[in-house]
Amino acid sequence: MYIILLGAPGAGKGTQAVEVARELKLAHIATGDMFREAQKQGTALGLKAREYMEKGKLVPDEITVAMLLERISKPDCRQGVIFDGFPRTLAQAEALDKALEKQGKAIDEVVYIKVADEELMKRLSGRWICRQCQSPYHKITSPPKVEGKCDRCGGELYQRDDDKPATISERLKVFFAQTAPLIDYYTRTGKLVEVNGVGSVDNVRKGTLTALRREAAGRK
Ligand code: AP5
Repeated sequence: MYIILLGAPGAGKGTQAVEVARELKLAHIATGDMFREAQKQGTALGLKAREYMEKGKLVPDEITVAMLLERISKPDCRQGVIFDGFPRTLAQAEALDKALEKQGKAIDEVVYIKVADEELMKRLSGRWICRQCQSPYHKITSPPKVEGKCDRCGGELYQRDDDKPATISERLKVFFAQTAPLIDYYTRTGKLVEVNGVGSVDNVRKGTLTALRREAAGRK
């Protein structure tokens, strides 16, 4: 299965992608995590991406698409992928369609996780991330058991530079201008299903899996 999780910054794509990938045994590809890893390693790609990420802008399509195409050519992607944070522009969506088509594959489902703006702001400004495994936490709604430490791997938790209020506002603007048109793009293909992203993480996970199974059954 090739599944896309679409949603505004803070909608819960990363949180749900980890759960759904585990449940459906899919590779999890998060372009934001890949860029942050490249920054940690100090590569040319990481330095370039930082210029855009710290302003809340999208990294240019040619850079992002090249990185993604290289990643999906890896053996762990053959059984299926959950895409988290990609595609984010029409050009990226078309590039992904083309690349999968060459392998005789296609996107199966697109889950649009919908959350109101005010809630997104609250989620992002209280978010903490594990430096090691990238698991997300929230200081109020999903705090770690031990302050500052990841429950899963014991890694150090930190706040992302782009989770400052001014950058969050810019990221939301960019989402509505450049990524939201993908809702129409995938609605036209009949592959988009909308899931309510408000509620407990567990309930959103159940809603997402139910929607995916219902759509898959409807296709048979
Ligand atoms: P990226 O890392 O992809 O960030 P994003 O899309 O802005 O999404 P977030 O990671 O902020 O949110 P999320 O939806 O994953 O929510 P999460 O699960 O963490 O991208 C960062 C930057 O990289 C971009 O701005 C861009 O510059 C660049 N980039 C990346 N991909 C690109 C691409 N394809 N093209 C060009 N540039 C690209 O949850 C958020 C918080 O809410 C957490 O604290 C979590 O614990 C909490 N939470 C989750 N679910 C719930 C719930 N149900 N109830 C209450 N709280 C919840």
